[in-house]
Amino acid sequence: MLEELKALEKRARAELEGLGALEALEGWRVAFLGRKGALTEILRSIGQAPPEQRPALGQEANRVKLALEQAYTDRAEALQRAEAQRQLAQEGVDVTLPGRPVAPGFLHISTQTLREIYAIFGAMGFQVFEAPDIETDVNNFQLLNIPPFHPARDMWSTFHTTREGVLLRTHTSPGQIRAMRQYCPEPIRVILPGKCYRYEQVTARHESMFYQVEGLAIGRDVTMGDLKGVLTHFARQIFGPERKVRFRASYFPFTEPSAEMDIDCVICGGKGCRVCKNSGWLEILGSGMVHPQVLRNGGYDPAVHTGFAFGMGPERIAMLKYAIDDIRYFFANDLRFLQQFA
Ligand code: DAH
Repeated sequence: MLEELKALEKRARAELEGLGALEALEGWRVAFLGRKGALTEILRSIGQAPPEQRPALGQEANRVKLALEQAYTDRAEALQRAEAQRQLAQEGVDVTLPGRPVAPGFLHISTQTLREIYAIFGAMGFQVFEAPDIETDVNNFQLLNIPPFHPARDMWSTFHTTREGVLLRTHTSPGQIRAMRQYCPEPIRVILPGKCYRYEQVTARHESMFYQVEGLAIGRDVTMGDLKGVLTHFARQIFGPERKVRFRASYFPFTEPSAEMDIDCVICGGKGCRVCKNSGWLEILGSGMVHPQVLRNGGYDPAVHTGFAFGMGPERIAMLKYAIDDIRYFFANDLRFLQQFA
C-alpha cells in the first residue's frame, strides 16, 4: 500500500504539471483529493491493513495528502500568474507607440460652396436669414404672384404634404415674404440659403432635393443698377476676376423686370464648348426687381420702397466651378466623390 501511495503521488504531480489552464484544475482536484478521489480511497482502506502497518501508512497518507494540497495551491497560483501575464501582454498599451491617426472630417462640397457664398455676400452687408423647408402654398406661391391654377405653377413640380395647403418649398423665394414681414418697414439686405424640393424626374441635371441661395435687398432707391453691381461682383468673386457677365431678359412671376445672369464659360472662356453647348455662356442665376405686388404682400409700399431679388443653386455653381457633370453625385454619399473636396 505504501508503494501504491508513492505511485499515486507521482501520478498526481505529473498530471498537475501537465494542466495547461485554470479551468482544468478542478477536475484534477476531484480526481485525486475529492470525496471519491484516489487518495480518499486509499485512506479509507487503511483500516483493512495489518495493525502494525497502520501508523506508518496513516502518516504517509497524510503526508501525501498535505503535499498534494500544497501542490494544488502552488499550481493554481502559477496558472493564475501565467494567465494574468498573458492578458497583460495581449491587452497592454505600449505608450511609446505613435498614436493612430484620426481621419479628420471635412465639409460637404455643398456646405463649402454655401459658406463661400455667405462670405461674398456678407462682405456686401447681406445677413443670412433662415426660413423653413416646409411651407404653405400661400408663401411658396400665392404671395409670390403665383395664384392657384396659374400656368406659372408648371415651373415648379411640387411635393405636397397630406395637409392641405402645406408643401415642401420648391424654392427659397417664400423666405422673401417671411423676411419682409419680419423687417417691414426697415430696409433689408439678406440672403436666404436652404434646401428646396421638387417632384422631378432625377437626372444628371435635376435632383429632387438641392440647395438654393435666395437674395433680397429692399430700400429706397434700390435700382436695377444695384442688382447688376452686386451680382457682377459676386460672379467675379466666386468664378474669378476675369469673368464677363451678361443679363438676359427673362420671366419670373415675383420680379419685374426679370433677368437671368450668365457668365462667360469657365471651361472655354467663351469660345464655345460642350459644357456651354457652344454658346460661350453659362447661366448661373435668376434675378429681378421685386414685383410691386410682392412688395405689398411683404408690407412695403412700392411707391416708397423698391428692391431686387435673386436665386441661385449652389450645386449648380459648384458643378460649373469644378466641372462636375452630374448633380446626383452631391447627395449620393459616395466618398470617392466627396473626398475630392476634402
Ligand atoms: N425662385 C426661382 C426658382 O427657383 C429663382 C429666382 C429667380 C429667385 C428670380 C429670385 C428671382 O429671387 O428674383 O426658379
